[in-house]
Amino acid sequence: MKLGALRQTLAIFLVSFIFLSSIPSSFALSSPDPVRGKNAMVASQHELASRIGVDILKKGGNAVDAAIAVGIALAVVYPEAGNIGGGGFMLVRFKDGRTTAIDYREMAPKAAHRDVFVDEKGELTRGEGGSTVGYRASGVPGTLAGFEMAFKKYGSGKVKWSDLIDPSVRLAENGYVLTHRLAQLLYGYREWLAKYPDSNRIFLRDGKYYQEGENFKQPELAETLKRISKDGAKDFYTGKTAQMVAADMAANKGLITLEDLKNYVAKERVPLKGTYRGHEIVTMPPPSSGGIVMLQVLNMLEGYDVRSMGSGSSAKLHVLAEAMRRSFADRAEYMADPDFAEVPVAKLIDKKYAEERRSTIDLNKASASKDVKFGSFSTSSEGTETTHYTVVDAEGNLVSNTYTINDLYGSRVTIKGTGVLMNDEMDDFAARPGRPNLFGLVQGERNKVEGGKRPLSSMTPTIVMTKDGKPWFALGARGGPRIISAVMQSVINVIDHDMNIQQAIDSPRIHMQWLPDELAYEMYGISPDTMKILTSYGHNFAQRPGNIASATGIMIDKDGIRLGAIDSRSDGVAVGY
Ligand code: GLY
Repeated sequence: MKLGALRQTLAIFLVSFIFLSSIPSSFALSSPDPVRGKNAMVASQHELASRIGVDILKKGGNAVDAAIAVGIALAVVYPEAGNIGGGGFMLVRFKDGRTTAIDYREMAPKAAHRDVFVDEKGELTRGEGGSTVGYRASGVPGTLAGFEMAFKKYGSGKVKWSDLIDPSVRLAENGYVLTHRLAQLLYGYREWLAKYPDSNRIFLRDGKYYQEGENFKQPELAETLKRISKDGAKDFYTGKTAQMVAADMAANKGLITLEDLKNYVAKERVPLKGTYRGHEIVTMPPPSSGGIVMLQVLNMLEGYDVRSMGSGSSAKLHVLAEAMRRSFADRAEYMADPDFAEVPVAKLIDKKYAEERRSTIDLNKASASKDVKFGSFSTSSEGTETTHYTVVDAEGNLVSNTYTINDLYGSRVTIKGTGVLMNDEMDDFAARPGRPNLFGLVQGERNKVEGGKRPLSSMTPTIVMTKDGKPWFALGARGGPRIISAVMQSVINVIDHDMNIQQAIDSPRIHMQWLPDELAYEMYGISPDTMKILTSYGHNFAQRPGNIASATGIMIDKDGIRLGAIDSRSDGVAVGY
């Protein structure tokens, strides 16, 4: 090449390089910008709930106070998943760097036992009487016990308990305007909700179905919340509401008794910590499987140059799916309530163990799930509809809270006279250990049903730190085991692919959970060419695409601005100030 031509080529190369590297990464995806707040931010799946949280912060409450108020509000405005009849996990990082995890997961009633959901022939009970719908499907709710524990131990002391409940009393009493989505969703669940008189009356207006734009009131729930505002959680566990729950359960062959309610305890646990490429990750320990599975997959991915592979490449999706296949196999065997079963947490999140598991991944060939067993080591040495919200206050306290009634509208039972929709969390136990559940998943004995035990969860509230130890972003998701996939892929998107929190959450995802042996994907999420390559490796794509969970999160940028993000797959609004 002549000198002039060489100069010209170099100049074109330089100009292109400068131009391309000056394109902000937001060009990569068509996500909206995150919502910005100078002081504080609440990101939840309903605008009214987010606004109630911000009001509490402006009154002097901290992130914990606001998180409680948001949780109570979602029980009113987001009845498909927001709740006082379910349970969850609140992960907190305080401004001084301490962290804690409040476990308010449901507990199995005392009368529940290993075979409570199988008949004499060993077949799973379906419908009423089974683990997914009706009175017997509920675990003892933990939401109010958890919120009260958080308030008493970690609230600011500047707002009263009633300040956190009363805005939601007003919402339930005066009503709020139904969105198109909620009106449609209620109608979509009419067959199930209609089976239970109070659900039928409250949510379906006895068959005169609610339309978008109508005002939706819940007077019984307002009365229940008034009692809770005045008497605290004790109303729900030993007071009038407890009596109403126990009476309705007894009248309908439910398992929960007054004694079960009285014996419910929220527990404070030490958060699970790991690292990904030098960033500390703070997440939920058992009884959630979410933190362990996420850290396991991230540990395996550390052995690959994921950044160079590119966010949607077949090479990356292949190793991601293979890592998930292995972690989910471990989940089915080893993970459960640590108060009832030995869970080898340290071994499972050990980087050396990840190396062993990674060494079994063939870069050009998918494993068959039937050949992938849970890792073998000596343990002696050592759902699906939910909602997540995140709060960051002006002082830098951060709450990442996921709670659930399991399926949409939980067990579909509204306890007579209370307006309280109950969970179907008993379905998160292994109803038939050693044999496939309704979805083909085989789990071991550790997660069998036992009275007083907490069912294994996938909820993954998570906080990720910068390399120099400052809080960077916090997030979580709804969507059963897909929660784990959504949270881990959002973390990868930020750390490996330089996305902001909105892009990271919106970006297409995959999900592989060992059994069934199929790779779940999203509409337009994978190009046909990439699918072809992955199929040639031996991956079995799910028959149809479908959303893989939905997430919400908040990032704190280098100037301290709070950036709120709600998944474009779902409703919700982040509100900051
Ligand atoms: N019920 C959903 C979960 O706990 O993961």
